[in-house]
Amino acid sequence: MRQNDDIERQIEAQDLTLPAPETEPDRQYYYTAKCRRYITERSKELGRPLTCFIQTFGCQMNARDSEKLLGILEEIGFVQGTDEKSDFVLYNTCTVRENANLKVYGRLGRLNGIKRKNPDMMIALCGCMMQEPEVVEKIRKSYRFVDIIFGTHNIFRLAELICRRIDEKKAVVDIWQGTDQIVEELPVERKYPFKSGVNIMFGCNNFCSYCIVPYVRGRERSRDPEDIIREIEALVSDGVVEVMLLGQNVNSYGKTLAEPVSFAELLRRVDKIEGLRRIRFMTSHPKDLSDELIAAMRDAKNVCHHLHLPLQSGSTRILKQMNRKYTKEQYLALVDRLRAAIPDIALTTDIIVGFPGETEEGFLETLDVVRKVRYDSAFTFIYSPRTGTPAAAMEDQVPADVVKDRFDRLLAEVQEIASEVILRDLGTVQPVLAEETDDHEDGWLTGRLDNNTVVHFPGDPSLIGTIVDVSLDEAKGFYFMGHRV
Ligand code: 5AD
Ligand code: SF4
Repeated sequence: MRQNDDIERQIEAQDLTLPAPETEPDRQYYYTAKCRRYITERSKELGRPLTCFIQTFGCQMNARDSEKLLGILEEIGFVQGTDEKSDFVLYNTCTVRENANLKVYGRLGRLNGIKRKNPDMMIALCGCMMQEPEVVEKIRKSYRFVDIIFGTHNIFRLAELICRRIDEKKAVVDIWQGTDQIVEELPVERKYPFKSGVNIMFGCNNFCSYCIVPYVRGRERSRDPEDIIREIEALVSDGVVEVMLLGQNVNSYGKTLAEPVSFAELLRRVDKIEGLRRIRFMTSHPKDLSDELIAAMRDAKNVCHHLHLPLQSGSTRILKQMNRKYTKEQYLALVDRLRAAIPDIALTTDIIVGFPGETEEGFLETLDVVRKVRYDSAFTFIYSPRTGTPAAAMEDQVPADVVKDRFDRLLAEVQEIASEVILRDLGTVQPVLAEETDDHEDGWLTGRLDNNTVVHFPGDPSLIGTIVDVSLDEAKGFYFMGHRV
C-alpha cells in the first residue's frame, strides 16, 4: 500500500501532453493531475479555495468508500467544506430500505436552490441507490441539475468523471453492472486518525430474499491477504490503533482467491501486526461462522470480544423464506459455542420485523431468541420491500399496524435486556479507547470498551486515540459514565 506521499509523487510525475494511460491506478493519477489544473485555475480566478462536502448514508462500507472519495477530492485540490453550500457536493447513497432512498430525494430537492446561487457548484451522486436503473432514470428526468452519477463499482474513477464533466460540459453517468477489478493505491482521507475501516472483500453471494445488496454491490470478491496486511501496516505506522475489517459477509472471506485463505487465518495474521491494539470485523453470517474462527477469536490477543451476528428472525420457517440457511436451533447452538469459548463476548444483532408471512407465532419465536441470547444491543428494522428481490413479490405482506405493534414490543424487550446486560461491567475498570470530545459535557471525552460499549469520562483531548483505564461508575441504559484511574 502506497502512502499518500508516494501517490502525490506519482500524480506530479504525470505528463498531461500525452493521452491518459489505460491501466489503473496510473490512469486516475493522470486525471487527478488534470483535474487539479482546472481546480487551481478556477480557485485563482475566484480568489478562494474550492470546497467539497460528502454526505454518507448507510453502512460502514459506505463510510469507508467516502474516505476514499474524500481522499481523491483533496488530491484534486478541493478543501473540505462543512455543508451543502460547498462547490462540490457528493451524496454517497444507501438503498437497503426505502426510507434511505426517500432521505436522498428530500435533500436533493433542497440542493437545487443552492446550486442556482453558485454557478461553480457540482452535484454528484454515487453508492448503492445508483445501481438501480429506475433510480438513475428518475434522477435524470426529475433532478436534471445533478452533474455526475456513478455507482459502487467505480468510485476509484472520481477524478476521471469530474474531468469529463468539465470537458464535455454535460451530465456524466457511469454505472457499471459489476466488476472483477479491485484498484489499490488510491489516496484516502481518514475521518479518525487512530482508527480505520479496511475492506477485505466486496459484494455478496448470499441472496437473502429481502436484500438488495447482492444486486447493487455485485458478486463476492476478496482482496489478497498481502494487500490487506500491507494496508494495515501502513495505517499502523500512520497512528492507527484500531481496525474494522469490512465485508458484507466476512466469514466467507478468501474462498474465491487463487490460493484460498480462511477468514480465521486472515485474523490470525492481522493479530500479529505490531502496534495494532484492537481488531474488529463486520458483518458475520451465522451460516459461515466456523469453529476455526471462534478459536482464532479466542486465541488472538487483539481481536475484540464483540461479535455482530445478524439473526433477522427467530422463526425457522421465516428464516427459510429469507434464504438464511440456518434454523433457530442452529443459531442458538452457535451462540452457545461462542459463549463457551469466549465467556465475556458481547453479542449484537440485526432483526427484521414484518417479513412477508410472519405470524404472531413466528414473531414470538424472534422474541424467544432475543430473551435467550440477551444481546448487548440490537438494530431492529421494519421490513421494507425492495424492487427486484424475491420477498417483494411474496404474498402475505404483513399489515402496517401489525408490524408497528410487533416492532414496538421487540424494541422494548431489546432495550430492557440491553440495560440489564450492561450491568455486567458496572464498577469494573476497563481499557477504553478515547475517541472524541463529548458532545454534551465540556472537558469530557467519549470512548469505547473492547466490547464496543460507549463510555463518557472527564479527560483532556490530548488523550484521543490512546487507550486509558476507566472505572465504569454508572450505567445509563446503553452507555457508561466513568472516570480515569
Ligand atoms: N428491509 C428491512 N431491513 C433490511 N435489512 C436488509 N434488507 C432489508 C429490508 N429489505 C437489514 C438487515 C441487515 C441490515 C443491514 O439491514 O437486518 O442485516
Ligand atoms: Fe451498505 Fe447495503 Fe446500504 Fe449499500 S445498501 S450502503 S451495502 S447497507
